[in-house]
Amino acid sequence: MRNKDLIEKLKIQRGLAEDEWVQIIDTFDEEDLRFAMDTARGITIERFGKKIYFRGIVEFTNVCRNDCYYCGIRAGNSNCARYRLDEEDILACCEDGYAHGFRTFVLQGGEDPYYTKEKICGIVRRISERFPDCAVTMSIGELDRDFYQALYDAGARRYLLRHESADASHYAMLHPASQKLESRMRCLKDLKEIGFQTGCGIMVGSPYQTSRHIAKDMMFMAEFKPEMVGLGPFIPHRDTPFRDEPAGSVDLTLMVIALTRIMLPDALIPSTTALGTAEAEGRQKGVLAGCNVVMPNLSPMEVRKKYMLYDGKVGTDMSAETGIRTLRAQMEEIGYEVVVARGDFQRR
Ligand code: 5AD
Repeated sequence: MRNKDLIEKLKIQRGLAEDEWVQIIDTFDEEDLRFAMDTARGITIERFGKKIYFRGIVEFTNVCRNDCYYCGIRAGNSNCARYRLDEEDILACCEDGYAHGFRTFVLQGGEDPYYTKEKICGIVRRISERFPDCAVTMSIGELDRDFYQALYDAGARRYLLRHESADASHYAMLHPASQKLESRMRCLKDLKEIGFQTGCGIMVGSPYQTSRHIAKDMMFMAEFKPEMVGLGPFIPHRDTPFRDEPAGSVDLTLMVIALTRIMLPDALIPSTTALGTAEAEGRQKGVLAGCNVVMPNLSPMEVRKKYMLYDGKVGTDMSAETGIRTLRAQMEEIGYEVVVARGDFQRR
C-alpha cells in the first residue's frame, strides 16, 4: 500500500500493523509528510479549533538520582550546577503564571529524593488550594504507587512520564542497567489506574533508535491510549555520553507528531521546547503537524540555564514574561489563538 493510503487507513482504524508503521517511517517523502501534516492538522482543528493551550512549567529541581545517557541533568554530570526551589519560590512562579492567565501548572524536576512524599504533596496541596480553578500536572519521574496516589489525593490530576522507548533492548541502550523499561511501564499503568490524565512519549532520533522501535512506540500508544503525548527531537548535550550523537531530524519528528495525532484525535500534544530548539520555526511547524499545547517556562531567570536537558535549549535567556510573549506571537503568526483554560482531556 502507498504511504498515503496507510495514513488514510490509520485515520479510520486508529492503528496500523508493525510493518506498516515501519514502511511509513522508512520511506516517507516530502509529499507524504505534507499529506500527514495536513490530515493531522485537519483533525486537530475539527476537534479543538485553532486553539493552543498554554501550560506554565516550573522546573523546580535539577537534582536527579538517575543517569539517563541522553540527559544534561543526569546524576553523573558533575558540570551541572544543582539547584532546588523551595515552596515559596514555586508558589511565586505559579502566582506569576496565574497573573499571565495560566490555568495549568506543570511541576517538573529530576528524581530528587529531597522532595519527599510529605514535602511535595504539601506543595501540591497549597497550589490546589490557592488556585482552585487550576490544574496541577506533575513530571517528577518514577515513584511508588502510593506516592502517586498521595499526589492525586493532594490535588494533582495529570502526570507526564515519557516512556522513552517501548522496546526493552533500545531502552537499555539509553539508560543504565538499574533503570528498567518494566519499571517505567509499571509507573504508567499505576498512574492511569489511579485516574491521572497520563502522558507518555519519546525523543525522536534518540541514539540507536530504528524505525522498528518507533513502530513499537506507536503500537504501545495505540494500546495505552495516553491522554497526552510528549514528542521532541533528541538533541545532544555536551556533558553526556551521547555528546557526539547526531540530533534527531525535525521532519521525522513532525511525521511522528502527525501520525500520533491521526491515531489519537483527542490527545493533548505539546509542541515541545526541543522542537523549537532544533529549528527556529520548529514550534510553529509542530502546531501545523497537529500539536495543540505549548508549555512556556515559568521558572525564575536565575535557574533556567541550570535546567539544560540538551544543548542550546531555547528560552533560557529570557524572562517568563518575554517567553510567553514570544510563544504567543509565534502562535498568532500562524493564525492560532492562545487559550488559558485548564484544557482537560475530553474523549469524544
Ligand atoms: N534531547 C531531547 N530531549 C531530551 N530529554 C531529556 N534529554 C533530552 C535530550 N538530550 C527529554 C526526555 C525526558 C524529557 C523531560 O526530556 O524525553 O523524558
